[in-house]
Amino acid sequence: MSNGSYDLRSEWAELAPYWIAESRAGGDVSRKGMLDAYVLAACGNVEGLSILDCGCGEGRFGRMLAGRGAHRVLGVDTCEPMIQAARELQSDNEEYVVGDVQDLHFLADESFDLAVSYLNHCDLPDFAANVREVFRVLKAGGRFVIANLHPMRSATGAWYRGPGGEKLHVHLDRYFDEGPRQFVMKACRITNFHRTLSTYIRGFLNAGFIVADIIEPTVEPKALEMYPELDDELRVPNFIIYVLKK
Ligand SMILES: C[S@@+](CC[C@H](N)C(=O)[O-])C[C@H]1O[C@@H](n2cnc3c(N)ncnc32)[C@H](O)[C@@H]1O
Repeated sequence: MSNGSYDLRSEWAELAPYWIAESRAGGDVSRKGMLDAYVLAACGNVEGLSILDCGCGEGRFGRMLAGRGAHRVLGVDTCEPMIQAARELQSDNEEYVVGDVQDLHFLADESFDLAVSYLNHCDLPDFAANVREVFRVLKAGGRFVIANLHPMRSATGAWYRGPGGEKLHVHLDRYFDEGPRQFVMKACRITNFHRTLSTYIRGFLNAGFIVADIIEPTVEPKALEMYPELDDELRVPNFIIYVLKK
């Protein structure tokens, strides 16, 4: 198994065309049926703010922030095809650059009001480096909103199914065994990194952040009517959102 940065970039470059096509068709169900509303609520009023989007992908969430009145959105992503796609749709208030969010040396200290990481920490070999860098580039009082896979679900596990294929319960194993986990998304192999809840929280505190809130999203009844496949979200915590304050 390889977890070098070159291989991680190749994985995302291979997945990018499928990812971009899905996003242009409206985005994945977990985001549009549940997570978007929670992450936007955690960001609060973004009018006039200067915002950093870490691991911005093809710019879907950056466009949402710009559409809600952000003064400036800078999206950073290692994957060139994602950044090219983001630039195709960018408004005057958005900018997208190729870069590694674990090393933001090209950004000035205390230059952003808000930073966002929308399902990117699970992709990073060194999430703590990103947290330290975001702490540096945020202004005093600035916030960092992080949506991530829930540690209960990034550990080894899957649905245990009954004879008819019905979901009975989820296995949870190797929770304390941190490190890379590989899975297949749209026929592409992708490497994610599992860490325990306490490792994440310690990384936030060690960087100097205050943990202002922790949110475990679940699906609202109206969204469930539109997207019945989100019924999992009523049963297990697939995602978690941290709101940090400098
Ligand atoms: C799960 S996608 C999320 C994209 C976007 N935030 C969204 O929600 O649509 C993860 C993104 O992180 C990017 N990524 C992975 N490692 C990175 C790194 N070290 N620095 C910056 N971006 C990275 C990938 O290229 C990919 O676009």
